[in-house]
Amino acid sequence: AWRWLLVISLSASGSQANANDWNMPVGVTDISADIFGLHMTIFWVCVVIGLVVFGAMFYSLFRYRHSKGAKAANFHEHTSVEVLWTAIPVLILVGMAVPATATLKNMYDSSDAELDVMITGQQWRWRYEYLGEDVAFNSNMSTPRTQISGAETRGEHYLLEVDEPLVLPINRKVRFLMTSDDVIHSWWVPDLAVKQDTIPGFINENWVKINEPGIYRGQCTELCGVNHGFMPVVVHAMEEEEFEGWLAKRKEAAAEEAMGVDREWGMEELAERGESVYQAICSSCHQAEGQGSPPAFPALANNQQLIEDVDWHLDKVINGVSGAAMPAFRSTLNPVEIAAVVTYTRNAWGNDTGDVVQPSE
Ligand code: CUA
Repeated sequence: AWRWLLVISLSASGSQANANDWNMPVGVTDISADIFGLHMTIFWVCVVIGLVVFGAMFYSLFRYRHSKGAKAANFHEHTSVEVLWTAIPVLILVGMAVPATATLKNMYDSSDAELDVMITGQQWRWRYEYLGEDVAFNSNMSTPRTQISGAETRGEHYLLEVDEPLVLPINRKVRFLMTSDDVIHSWWVPDLAVKQDTIPGFINENWVKINEPGIYRGQCTELCGVNHGFMPVVVHAMEEEEFEGWLAKRKEAAAEEAMGVDREWGMEELAERGESVYQAICSSCHQAEGQGSPPAFPALANNQQLIEDVDWHLDKVINGVSGAAMPAFRSTLNPVEIAAVVTYTRNAWGNDTGDVVQPSE
């Protein structure tokens, strides 16, 4: 009991504590509101049943507490009582199942969507692709895990931010096609009432139609490896017009990026680009300074093979290492990013090779 007292007093002393902290969120979609309604209905049904059952029990305990020596009634077969105690639970269960089934059916009806977004889980980030729009990007935790300091985490709630949130329009039905490149992850945003496994080799569907603009947060909710706790989900829902503007800008940027293959890159701009790719993607296994975690994740700093053989290095980044933890990055990173990260890792940490690896298709 003291533990509960502790929980209660801690919660009461928190400045943000309010009644909603104790319940699931109502959320910002019709489905999430339906689920909240079902949850509250079932909660109150259970409260009433609990009161009736425990009321009868405690009443009997109290009322007959002095009947020492009294003989307990002993009877069997009572058709009307048996019919009654079967019929009442059946009615309650059917009464709960009908609206719950209707909501469940609605939840998985992703037909007539106005926008399709592919969500791919990767160790340890999310990849979002706006199908048919030529816009795709990775959503990494913006501060690598190894760089989060104790000072930052000592606050009441440390929010894990991402470099690129999933941007969605409100009032539009958005279909999610959800899969994974490696192990099973699960994409969960409580305010959107979406909690869907992303499974390699399989595409799950789900959908949202968000009613209010805002930032909605969630996280991976399927244990997926050492950084499972560090693949947050951030959804930025905006007015339709604002969304269209954002999408147009992203398309423009993607077109510009594609042109990066045709031009000659300088060492400095490429290395700078490569450093941010490295810190966002590679550092979760090979560590911030390339020191690695041998034997699973080899050190990159002062790695002789890496220094001597550019083609070997490029091959590992593009195609991964079969049978090892190193995934293929050919679909995650574009040619400029691959060239940049290879250039950066070849020249960082004191073993300057002077190589500039130019992007190519
Ligand atoms: Cu991805 Cu847990």
